[in-house]
Amino acid sequence: MFQFTITDSEFNSFRTFIYDNAGINLSDEKKTLVTSRLSKRLRHYSLDSFQQYFDLMMASVQSGERQVVIDLLTTNETYFFREPKHFSFLEREILPKWKGGKTLRVWSAASSTGEEAYSIAMLLDDMLGNHPWEIFGSDISSRVVKAAQKGHYQQTRIDGIPVAYLHKYCLKGVDEQEGTLLIDKKIRQKVSFSSVNLKNPLGNIGSFDIIFLRNVLIYFDMETKIKIIRQLVDKMKPDGYLFIGHSESLKGIHDGLEAIIPTVYKKAVS
Ligand SMILES: C[S@@+](CC[C@H](N)C(=O)[O-])C[C@H]1O[C@@H](n2cnc3c(N)ncnc32)[C@H](O)[C@@H]1O
Repeated sequence: MFQFTITDSEFNSFRTFIYDNAGINLSDEKKTLVTSRLSKRLRHYSLDSFQQYFDLMMASVQSGERQVVIDLLTTNETYFFREPKHFSFLEREILPKWKGGKTLRVWSAASSTGEEAYSIAMLLDDMLGNHPWEIFGSDISSRVVKAAQKGHYQQTRIDGIPVAYLHKYCLKGVDEQEGTLLIDKKIRQKVSFSSVNLKNPLGNIGSFDIIFLRNVLIYFDMETKIKIIRQLVDKMKPDGYLFIGHSESLKGIHDGLEAIIPTVYKKAVS
């Protein structure tokens, strides 16, 4: 198959676009990634160059093609019960102390295809009995938001799910659904997903007892991280918790937060 090449100036155009629109900071090393992910759109439109595709995207009606580029240039890797220590911390330290009455609200703030939100949902249902809870999942990529809303996964993706939870919360596909699993409606109905760009003002999404912001800060520069953390702290309830990914750091930018254990923070009392 014909391989397209991207010039420095074309790469810079897409780099500026994704930085301005998603806050994602692409290094020079990401040239191959951009080429391989966007080449299919050049083929789709029978274009000869990335410049032509960039111009088409910028001129696209109601920014439909811009969303396609955002979907293609975000990295959506995720899996069930990723970074298990966070789930143990929730199970041992937070949920046993949770007093019912008010609805426990959790936000999976870069939820990708939903595995993180549904992992939390399984744990909440199991631990909280009849105490009310709800989870809000969000992502900048509309493609992954749609997938998350379905809660329907390939069987090959279930590795991290404890066996007891597989039986309790997952429906095994039969016939034409063979090889897939569907998250049980019992928990699906307490988990909602929407498109949210963390770089933009967050709007009226309420406040949260627990926020998972994992494996997304790595894509942002310092300025964007500061802005995003500030917005998230505003959305945390007093005593709320924030989880970030194990390879991420809030060094120098955790104003308003108190470190509890590495990668877990609590809203500081002001
Ligand atoms: C690697 S996934 C992490 C998924 C999950 N949190 C986990 O830890 O497994 C990163 C997600 O962040 C999303 N993302 C990137 N920039 C974003 C932004 N500005 N606003 C919201 N989501 C963003 C991507 O679309 C992607 O789905």
